[in-house]
Amino acid sequence: MTETQTPVIEIRDLHKAYGELEVLKGVDLVAPRGHVVSLIGSSGSGKSTLLRCANLLEDSQQGEILFEGEPIKWRGSGHGRHPADPEQVTRIRTNLSMVFQQFNLWSHMTILQNVMEAPVTVLGRDKAEVEQSARAYLDKVGIGDKADAWPAQLSGGQQQRAAIARALCMEPKALLFDEPTSALDPELEQEVVKVIKDLATEGRTMILVTHDMRLAGDVSDHVVFLHLGKVEEQGPPGDILVRPGTERLQQFLSATVAA
Ligand SMILES: Nc1ncnc2c1ncn2[C@@H]1O[C@H](COP(=O)(O)OP(=O)(O)O)[C@@H](O)[C@H]1O
Ligand SMILES: [Mg+2]
Repeated sequence: MTETQTPVIEIRDLHKAYGELEVLKGVDLVAPRGHVVSLIGSSGSGKSTLLRCANLLEDSQQGEILFEGEPIKWRGSGHGRHPADPEQVTRIRTNLSMVFQQFNLWSHMTILQNVMEAPVTVLGRDKAEVEQSARAYLDKVGIGDKADAWPAQLSGGQQQRAAIARALCMEPKALLFDEPTSALDPELEQEVVKVIKDLATEGRTMILVTHDMRLAGDVSDHVVFLHLGKVEEQGPPGDILVRPGTERLQQFLSATVAA
């Protein structure tokens, strides 16, 4: 495989349980460079857990996770399995920026400080340089004028766009979105959808957990339908969202449209 063909993230046969509760039962997921992969499925199907495992925020008991072809090194097995190399974990985690449903901005920092925090403290980058790119990312998501505001002074849509600017300022190899529009009122949702669409058009590598089937249909190269911890069906959005092959996906899609 040449460099450009190596996926940014590859997950093979991943198993994850919380105690006795098996949440991921052998999941495969590939995020090729420049592609948008959407993860859909009912609440509780394991979407957030899969994202958190990909980002090494959660341990998993079995299976492989590769970042740009580099396998995560593990020690131990089963519930005793953990990443073996903290330096590798930090390097990979800082290259996979997460955007959460609840924004998770620091309330005691201004928007600019929020965006600058990790590149300065985690990556040790030059402050003046980071400030310049932080301001550019805030402009890019349309809230350049909010740099000195506090998170509580912003609408939900603006806060989520600040969180996206914060993720971008890490210059990650991929963005992982976990239901980025679910906490927003419909009119604010569209501001965030627009930013996500722009990022997709730019060729950013993204994994997008979403309940918004229109968004999944518009931005994805590939859609993965998770059901009870397994990939039930996957394919290009024009196929599986339009002509679902399984009854489960059919049911899920009609319930989502009706909602
Ligand atoms: N920290 C946790 N401890 C125990 N069970 C959890 C934890 N996080 C998630 N779960 C369980 O794992 C299953 C999958 O959850 P999750 O990945 O959040 O699903 P989704 O994001 O698709 O709604 C659910 O049954 C949920 O209750
Ligand atoms: Mg979730």
